[in-house]
Amino acid sequence: MSIPILAAKSVTKRFYGLTALDNVSLTVVRNSLTLLIGPNGAGKTTFVNVCTGVLKPDYGRIEFNGIDITGLPPYKIYSYGLVRSFQIPQPFKMLTVLENVLVAMKNNNEYPLKSLFKRFWIKEEYKNIEKAFRILKVVGLDKYWDWETYKLGAGQLKMLEVARALAAGAKLLALDEPIGGTDPSYANRIFDNLRSIKEMMEVSFLVIEHRIDIALKYADYVYVMDRGRVIAEGSSSDIVKNPRVAEVYLG
Ligand SMILES: Nc1ncnc2c1ncn2[C@@H]1O[C@H](COP(=O)(O)OP(=O)(O)O)[C@@H](O)[C@H]1O
Ligand SMILES: [Mg+2]
Repeated sequence: MSIPILAAKSVTKRFYGLTALDNVSLTVVRNSLTLLIGPNGAGKTTFVNVCTGVLKPDYGRIEFNGIDITGLPPYKIYSYGLVRSFQIPQPFKMLTVLENVLVAMKNNNEYPLKSLFKRFWIKEEYKNIEKAFRILKVVGLDKYWDWETYKLGAGQLKMLEVARALAAGAKLLALDEPIGGTDPSYANRIFDNLRSIKEMMEVSFLVIEHRIDIALKYADYVYVMDRGRVIAEGSSSDIVKNPRVAEVYLG
């Protein structure tokens, strides 16, 4: 049984005269890597903006984890666990990898008075460190736990971003062009990592991508948009064979 983590139904968004999203219905199945592709201007980023509360839809309904989130403010949607890559605060460059993950954790409800008494927080602190290491292992950064963040490469920073989202309690990560600007071997590694994260944790991915040559082989399910509409959906092999997809990409 495939239960959706995200279900958008008939979502429409207009900018003045332009219909950026025209009756878009899209589902992300729990624990899947769902790919959203399409040429420039198709409406992919607008879709993510509407789902994460940055923009309000003119029409339609969006459910996240069974909750109606249509039109809710971004912080609320974020707190439910729908996290968009650029919402994750920039890492603190002078802090270590581990410290950056700890900072992102949710249960940092510190009482000034409580903090005077070590025995009140030391247990929690250990638990957080344990959890942070578990996450760092999953994203492949555990060996670099004590590195200052400024020493990391571009791909490692992407993975730190994912680690911080997981630490913040993300259930669905929306990544807008995560491999942008990286060479093919790096890009493949990032997708490989996303897949293994998905295997090890209760998390789903909605990945927007442009370079379908790389992304398709990692997707569980694919949606194709063009000019505000979903023009195709299916498995990667369905999509490759679809003449309409070839048309929007080549023509
Ligand atoms: N804030 C905005 N105001 C007006 N038009 C916008 C805005 N955001 C996006 N658009 C337009 O909506 C369409 C879809 O854009 P976008 O969602 O960024 O596409 P994609 O991410 O697929 O390249 C484009 O024609 C774009 O110019
Ligand atoms: Mg975009």
